[in-house]
Amino acid sequence: MTSPATSSPAAPAPVILTGDRPTGPLHLGHFVGSLRNRVAYQNEYQQFVMLADAQALTDNMDDTGKVHRNVVEVALDYLAVGIDPTRSTIFIQSQVPELAELTFYYLNLVTVARLERNPTVKTEIALRNFERDIPAGFLTYPVSQASDISAFKATLVPVGEDQIPMIEQCNEIVRRFNRLVNKDILVECKALVPEIGRLPGIDGKAKMSKSLGNTINLGDTPDQIRAAVKQVYTDPLHLKVTDPGHVEGNVAFLYLDAFDTDKAALEEMKAHYTRGGLGDSIVKKRLDLVLQEMLEPIRARREEFAKDKGQVLQMLKEGTMKARAVAAGTVDEVRRALGLSYF
Ligand code: TRP
Repeated sequence: MTSPATSSPAAPAPVILTGDRPTGPLHLGHFVGSLRNRVAYQNEYQQFVMLADAQALTDNMDDTGKVHRNVVEVALDYLAVGIDPTRSTIFIQSQVPELAELTFYYLNLVTVARLERNPTVKTEIALRNFERDIPAGFLTYPVSQASDISAFKATLVPVGEDQIPMIEQCNEIVRRFNRLVNKDILVECKALVPEIGRLPGIDGKAKMSKSLGNTINLGDTPDQIRAAVKQVYTDPLHLKVTDPGHVEGNVAFLYLDAFDTDKAALEEMKAHYTRGGLGDSIVKKRLDLVLQEMLEPIRARREEFAKDKGQVLQMLKEGTMKARAVAAGTVDEVRRALGLSYF
């Protein structure tokens, strides 16, 4: 990263830390919301991409096998979309025990009440029916996430809108720590929220999500894509081809907006649909074509990498070693500042 001559010498070079819980295959929602951006960021910034398997356990302790399997699957998705291990450091969270050590210290810098007030945690607790019995690991996962971010002194953290309270809580911990030890050891970060909003599910629900069963996955076969496109929610009032149709809230058009590069033809299609005379089947035919073309090379790369899982694991091992070295440097500073260094 070359810094422009005008930037102040004290400003740290941007570092990105981002990650996913490996609980299932990545889908078009991830592609639009984060994966595409990561492919771009890796050319400009130092980027760490974390497979958050330990965090995934905070609500998947009953299915550790699922998390284990999906580490390689999500890594394949990363490679397939073009996250390049020579330009991004891809690593596995659980294999960086320094992160657990930081969490152990940071837990003393937050109160239970503050964690209970974290809006992200609150929503997620309700979603999982954890109200009566919150696993302590789940309640405290924002602290672990603060460790993930601060271990790498990340300055930019690409996240969805729903994760902003996580970033605020991380920065609170960072400030509290630095004040406590009276030294600027940890670095505050900024959330990088994508401009493009969330991609809805094929059923028209606001969010594409594995648990809702409304996804199109990056590794889906042509038949699976075709079947999903058939199910895509359009305009329930558009009963006859000749009826005027609605483009707003019509998932077929929302997806075309996101992925069709022929904007002129798309606008024409929208106008035709709105005035009537254009059937859903034509719109879906176009959507199928656009998605098949976009996903074909991704699927091909995925299959190529999947032939040699040993090589994928080797890549993850190397990334993890690099990440560990960086995290160990921060832990060393943290321990010294806390008086936890003896020999
Ligand atoms: N919480 C994120 C998710 O739900 C995953 C994650 C873990 C993460 N640690 C992180 C994201 C640190 C950004 C920074 O997918």
